[in-house]
Amino acid sequence: MSENGWHAICQNTDIDEGGMLPFEVGNFQVALYKVNGEIFATDNVCTHGMALLTDGFLDDDVVECPLHGGMFNVKTGKALCEPVDCDVKVYKTRQVDDRIEVLLSE
Ligand code: FES
Repeated sequence: MSENGWHAICQNTDIDEGGMLPFEVGNFQVALYKVNGEIFATDNVCTHGMALLTDGFLDDDVVECPLHGGMFNVKTGKALCEPVDCDVKVYKTRQVDDRIEVLLSE
């Protein structure tokens, strides 16, 4: 379902605390993270190479890429260490009832 770019992706209860899940929505590969009960979303593809961040490790609000260990802050998308030097795109999220929606735009 899409409304003004907002896409319903899953239920809040689908994601464990401290966990992350991958989703494909049209051309978008989206990673959802739950950090201290809050949901955050980024592009799921690492900016350094072809790896999915959700195959890596989430520690608090930092995700580590499984391929070369690059790290990103999932709240801001900021690249935190080598070899990543390009931030990952973040998407706005909102909760409607128990539904998690993500605002996807180019
Ligand atoms: S592909 Fe992610 S750090 Fe290299």
